[in-house]
This record gives sequence, C-alpha cells and structure tokens, in this order.
Amino acid sequence: MSETLQAGTSGSLAPAMEARGDVVISVSNLSKTYATGFQALKNINLDIRRGEIFGLLGPNGAGKTTLISIICGIVNPGAGRVLVDGYDIVRDYRKTRAIIGLVPQELTTDAFTTVCSAASLSRGLFGKPSNPQHIEKVLRELSLWERRNSMIMTLSGGMKRRVLIAKALAHEPTVLFLDEPSAGVDVELRRDMWQLIRKLRDAGVTIILTTHYIEEAEDMADRIGVIHKGELIVVEDKVELMRKLGKKQLVLHLLEPVERLPGELSGYSLALNNHGNELVYTYDTQAGRTGITALLTDLSRLGIRFNDLHTKQSSLEEIFVKLVGDRQ
Ligand SMILES: Nc1ncnc2c1ncn2[C@@H]1O[C@H](COP(=O)(O)OP(=O)(O)OP(=O)(O)O)[C@@H](O)[C@H]1O
Ligand SMILES: [Mg+2]
Repeated sequence: MSETLQAGTSGSLAPAMEARGDVVISVSNLSKTYATGFQALKNINLDIRRGEIFGLLGPNGAGKTTLISIICGIVNPGAGRVLVDGYDIVRDYRKTRAIIGLVPQELTTDAFTTVCSAASLSRGLFGKPSNPQHIEKVLRELSLWERRNSMIMTLSGGMKRRVLIAKALAHEPTVLFLDEPSAGVDVELRRDMWQLIRKLRDAGVTIILTTHYIEEAEDMADRIGVIHKGELIVVEDKVELMRKLGKKQLVLHLLEPVERLPGELSGYSLALNNHGNELVYTYDTQAGRTGITALLTDLSRLGIRFNDLHTKQSSLEEIFVKLVGDRQ
C-alpha cells in the first residue's frame, strides 16, 4: 500500500487564486510512475468544467483509474498539480475529498455492515452531520431501500455496486467520479442508474465517468477524453468529436444480390454485406464532395439497382478504435 495517501491533518481553507468559476477540476502536467517503475500517466493536462458529464475512455490499462485515483487522493501524484475547486489535492486533501464522491471500479467489501449503516458511516467520514432523510432518498433512488437492513455480503454483485454509489453520494458531493459504474449491473438497473446520474447533473453535480460501454458515454457525456498508454490523446466536445472523426455510410439494399463488385467501381470505398444484398459506401462528411451522386450514376449505368437506402453515422466506438489504432 505504499501508493496510498493518508488523510492530511492540516490544510489551508483558502482556495488557491487559480479557482475559476467554470473549471472545477484542473489537472496540470500530471505524470505518475508506480513503484514498479511503470509510467502510468504522461503529462496529463485536463480541465473539467463545472456541471458537465465528462466521459473518460480508453482501453484496459490506459491509466483511467490511476488518473481518477490521484484526483480523489487515493494514489499519490507523481509530478504535476491537481486543483479541485481551487484547492490543491495534496495540500488541501480534506477539503478536496469532501467535494468529491468516488464510485470505485473495484468492489470494496464492508461485508458485515448493513446497507444503511454503510451509507451513513460514509457520510460521517466526511464530517457531515447525520441526515437520515438524505440517506433514505439516496437508497430509494438506487432501489436499495428495501434492502437497507441487509448485510452487504448477502447482496448480489449489482446491488453491491449500487451500495458503492450510495456511499459515494452520502456526503452530498458536488463532483462525482464513477469508475466503470455499470460493470455487472443489469440493463434495467443500469437505465435507472443513468437516470439518477442525469438528475444529479441537473442538480449541478459535475460527473466524470469511465465506462467500457461506449454507447453509454455516447448517450451521457457532454465531452469525451480518450486516454491511451498514459497519454490523453483527445479531449473534445462529443458532438464535435463525432463530426470531426465521424464517417458516414450510405447503405443500399440491392434488388438482386451482387457477387463481386465490377472493376469500374474500384475508385469508391465500397463493401458488399449481407451475402451481396447490401452495398455500403463510406464517405467523409467533411469532404467537399461526398461522391454520392457520381456513385449512384455509375450504379445506374452498370445496371445495379436498389430498392431502399439509408445512411448511418459512425459510432463513438468506431471513432475510438480509429483514434487508438492510429497511435499503435
Ligand atoms: N499499484 C500499481 N503498481 C504498479 N502498476 C500499476 C498499479 N496500478 C496500476 N498499475 C498499472 O498502471 C497501468 C494503468 O492502470 P489503470 O488501472 O489506471 O488502467 P485503466 O485505464 O483504469 O484500465 P481498466 O480499463 O482495465 O480499468 C496498468 O498498466 C496497470 O498495470
Ligand atoms: Mg480502471
């Protein structure tokens, strides 16, 4: 546990001068090398805006949990500086921890505690006076109220994960980190969970989440950051990211299946799908000319007819694979 920080005993109460209204977390030049000599983060610079949902994506081992753990004060930062609401995470540890709620990736076990007391205790740890109404509200919203008197060890994995969320919300944090919150949570509960997270956002809570379900980030996030091998390779407004990197595809449903594409079409980026029944044309939405008109003219000339067509935008997952692929 040499990486674990102990709670600081002293801390300045005055926010640093850098505190700015629109930025709630400011990470500058942050690097982290573990005791093993492995460099998990390389010069990360990132500002999280107040009230946004920020999606942090990256393959296994990219450094997402390391980054979150440093901001939350669980792992020692190496070089660099992190401010939360203007407070330094090292110097003003207690202050920054009180602002933050963390739903950790790993299921931690307080097996012999009940759901309700785990949440209440967690609130107490941050020095907040007890507030049974708040705890009840949180447990109800997470569909845990019926199980409030159950020992945590008797709960299912998905319920245990929701207990972690309840614990993170118990002290009413204004910044909430969720590290893979939906792992092991079934579809219906996942939907409820996202609804709750949206509600928190609407109430002004800043949310930073990592997820392997890219469609969740696509649904939920206002901005996306992609981390790869310890480097933050992209931070972008989600809509802008999709617009910049998104390719569109035109899918033509052919009247008769085609076995092989005629050589005359070799200049187009085409693929035959669905046993030759679908012709898929990929084009760049940013290009001056999409080439669609020319393609349709050529198809008509070659006697390739279709009875339906639609377009689709590439998903964040495809964009992500491309981003990471380009860096390999
Ligand atoms: N305590 C540690 N000591 C040494 N190396 C570590 C430690 N914790 C993490 N690492 C290494 O740092 C790298 C980043 O790990 P991290 O857990 O931050 O990745 P991640 O992006 O959260 O991955 P995942 O998607 O699997 O959760 C990995 O190569 C990991 O093996
Ligand atoms: Mg992780």
